[in-house]
Amino acid sequence: MKRILHIWVLVLLAAAVWPLSGDATDNCGNLPSPTVLAWNGLLPTPRMGVSTWYAQGSAPTEAYVKTQADGLVSTGLLAAGYNFVVVDDGWPAASRDGGGNLVANATRFPDGMAATVTYVHADGEKFGIYSSPYSTTCAGYLGSYQHESADATQFATWGADFLDYDGCNVDAGYSSCYSTAGPQIWQLMAQDIRAGSRPMIIQVGTTPSPWANLWLWAKPVGQNEYRFDQQDINGLWANFDGAIDIAAGLSGYSAVGYWANADMLMNGTGSGPLTGTFTATQQQTQFGMDSLWSSPLIFGTDVTAMSSGLLAMYKNPEVIAVDQDALGLIAKRTSQTSCGSATCEVWTKMLWDGNYALGLLNRASTTQTVTANLSAYSNPDVRDLFARSDLGHMTSYSVSLPAYGMALVLVTPNGGTAMQNVVMQNMGIR
Ligand code: GLA
Repeated sequence: MKRILHIWVLVLLAAAVWPLSGDATDNCGNLPSPTVLAWNGLLPTPRMGVSTWYAQGSAPTEAYVKTQADGLVSTGLLAAGYNFVVVDDGWPAASRDGGGNLVANATRFPDGMAATVTYVHADGEKFGIYSSPYSTTCAGYLGSYQHESADATQFATWGADFLDYDGCNVDAGYSSCYSTAGPQIWQLMAQDIRAGSRPMIIQVGTTPSPWANLWLWAKPVGQNEYRFDQQDINGLWANFDGAIDIAAGLSGYSAVGYWANADMLMNGTGSGPLTGTFTATQQQTQFGMDSLWSSPLIFGTDVTAMSSGLLAMYKNPEVIAVDQDALGLIAKRTSQTSCGSATCEVWTKMLWDGNYALGLLNRASTTQTVTANLSAYSNPDVRDLFARSDLGHMTSYSVSLPAYGMALVLVTPNGGTAMQNVVMQNMGIR
């Protein structure tokens, strides 16, 4: 009796401490051995486009996808570089078809996924889809657990160009290996995609501890992007503010073909999970910081509902050029001082042509003056990238910024290569 009691206590304890759920059928045996996958050659600059998530949550529709595909064209956003339309979570029907394949929810995608993809492609755009390596997605829909190869084939057959592979609910079937082999769960899908003939970008969205710091492992297992914000931005400034400090630790974790994704642009309101909205100042700051981080620029809500002023801001080619810079670096926080109740910061991103993009950021809730010391750049030319106007030569730039505001300037050194080397040394890059 005592022995049976012991066993029950153990079982209950195990259930309490083991965070895994879902399918208990072992999938550890299907994971590949750890192998460093070379870059797949895709996504030489960060993705730009629109997703269904913050507008529609887990009930995306074909009709909305088509309005966004057409909207990118009619707003001029496609011409500005925004060319991906991504269907996020919630698109699958409740069960697979007779052949074991995922199918789109027939009510919300009456023409099916293949026709939806064709529509997006006909607009000259790329198509993205969402799945999870676990049996349920983050919102509880069918995931790709133990169907990885079939789903990779299915997505390719439909014509997908991008897969957001997002894992919240680790299956009990990974209980014997998750703590040691979490990255191989993503390696498996990357390999299954590569085994097919359609090139497809893959992004890791999330997975719980001990693998939540995705930047530490996502590149060698073949991912083109990783989400780093750790908490969906959701229209909440505090969530974006938290991402700023995470980004400060990501130097070296961004490269051509491998991008740090800071979640979507808060360009409007939605009926999805969006619980807040950004002010115009916050929208500009998010756009500027995302560009300094070489983050994908993906609209979270309806691209056809933006004011002409907001559209013009997001189409600003000089800011987009910072985001899309060919070096692919993530900006470094080069100065941080106390101001108001928070900090004022300078972020520095080296660009491929020897120029630098500097962000002057006020994280406080009151107006602050932020200063960037430019003495290392040898009396540089300074240009305001939001205003698209030259500010002249200066060795120091000070600007008054509203609460949560930022300035984004292009700094062109006058000292040539030798001076650039000095600056790079100062930044700890060389
Ligand atoms: C997570 C992701 C979001 C979205 C949802 C879908 O929360 O971070 O971007 O994809 O899952 O359920």
